[in-house]
Amino acid sequence: MDAGDPGIHPPFWLVTRYEDVMRVSKDNATFLNNPRTVVFSLTEGIEFAKAFSGGTEHMVASLVTFDAPVHMKYRKLTQDWFMPKNLRTIEDEIRGIASATVDRLIAAGEEVDFCKLVSAPYPLHVVMQILGVPEEDEPLMLTLTQQMFGGSDEDLNQSGMKDLSPEAITQIVAGAVKNFEQYFAKITADRRANPQGDVASTIANATVDGEPLNDRDMMGYYIIVAAAGHDTTSASTAGAMMALAKDHEQWARVREDRSLLPGIVEEAIRWTSPVQHFMRTAAEDTEIGGQPIAKGDWIMINYIAANHDPAVFDDPRRFDAARTPNRHLAFGAGAHQCLGLHLARLEMRILFEVLLDRIESVELAGEPARSKSTFVGGLKTLPLKIKPA
Ligand code: HEM
Repeated sequence: MDAGDPGIHPPFWLVTRYEDVMRVSKDNATFLNNPRTVVFSLTEGIEFAKAFSGGTEHMVASLVTFDAPVHMKYRKLTQDWFMPKNLRTIEDEIRGIASATVDRLIAAGEEVDFCKLVSAPYPLHVVMQILGVPEEDEPLMLTLTQQMFGGSDEDLNQSGMKDLSPEAITQIVAGAVKNFEQYFAKITADRRANPQGDVASTIANATVDGEPLNDRDMMGYYIIVAAAGHDTTSASTAGAMMALAKDHEQWARVREDRSLLPGIVEEAIRWTSPVQHFMRTAAEDTEIGGQPIAKGDWIMINYIAANHDPAVFDDPRRFDAARTPNRHLAFGAGAHQCLGLHLARLEMRILFEVLLDRIESVELAGEPARSKSTFVGGLKTLPLKIKPA
C-alpha cells in the first residue's frame, strides 16, 4: 500500500530526541502547525475532515491549527486570563472545587475509582467555571471531549464496540464537534446579550483586526479551551496518584513535607506526558538531527519520547519527585507552548494539598487501565483503597 491508500497515514518523520523536539517546537517559522496538527486521521479521515470543514484538513480551527501572524492575534485574546496574576484571583474558587471533590471521594467509601470520582470531574469542573459553562452541562462536555480525544477507545467514545473502523471513529469525532458547535452557539448568543467576566464572554465579544470572530474560529476557540483544559490535567493527576499509591513512603513523606509537592506535580506531568504528540510541516528544505527534511514533509514531535530521553533524564521511567532539573517538554515549547500550563500546575497542587490533608494512606485496589489514544491519553480507571485521615 502507498500513502494514498485508505487506512494508511501519510508518511511522517518521527522526532524523539529531547533536543530535536525542543528545536522543532521553537522554530515556528520553519516548522508550521498548518495544515495537519495531529495524526488524528488516516488518509480517508483527512478526506472526511475536508468535506466536513469545507476544504481544510482540520475538523476544528483553533490556536493549534494557526501559524504566524494569525496565531498570536488569537492567542492574545485570552492569554491574560491564564497568567498567574489572574489565576491568583480564582485560587479560592479552585480550592473550593478541590475540597468538594475530595468530600465526594471520601463519602464513596474505602474502595474507589479515582478517575471517575476525582481526576476526570475535577479539572473539568475548573475549566468549565473559567469558561462559564453551567454545572448541569458538564457531563455533556465530558462526553464530547472524551469522544473527540478517545474516539478509538470503546469505553470513552461511548460506543462500547471494540475495533471500530477508521471511518466510524471519524464519524464519532465529527459528531462530537457538531454537538460542541451547537452548544457553544447558544453560549455565544447569551454572552453577547449579557457579557460576564468569564472566558466565554471574552471569546464571544472578541475582535481580530476590527472584526468579530467568524463562527468556525469562535467555536474552535471554545472547543480548544474546553477540551485541552481537562483531559490533559486529568491524565497527569491520575498518573501522580498512581505513582504515590505504589510508593507508600513517598505519600507519607510528602504528607509531612509539603515543599515536595511542586516536584511531584512537575514529575507527574513529565512522567505521564498526556499530550503524546503534535505534528509540524516543514516550510522549507531543512534538517533535524542531521537528517535532511524536504519542504512539505510531515513531522511528528513526540513528547513522551522526548520526556524519556536518557540523554536528559536519568532513569527516565522512574517517577522521581526530587528530579532536578526537570525541564520536561510535556507543555511543548515556542509560540504554541501550552496556554494553560500555570492553571494545570495550580489545579494539581491545590488538589494534592487537599488529598494529603484528608487521606492518611492510599494503595492500589486493582489494575489501572489506560485509554486507547495516539493524541491525548492517560488512565481511564484507577482503583484505589483509601484510608481517610
Ligand atoms: C497537564 C496538563 C496539560 C498538558 C500536558 C498540556 C499540553 C499541551 C501541549 C503539548 C500543547 C502544544 C504545545 C506546542 O505545540 O508547543 C498545548 C497547547 C495548548 N494548551 Fe495545554 N496542556 C495541559 C493543560 C492545559 C490546560 C489546563 C489548558 C487550559 C485551558 C490548556 C490549554 C491549551 C491551549 C489553549 C493550547 C494551544 C496553545 C497555542 O497553540 O497557542 N492546556 N498544551
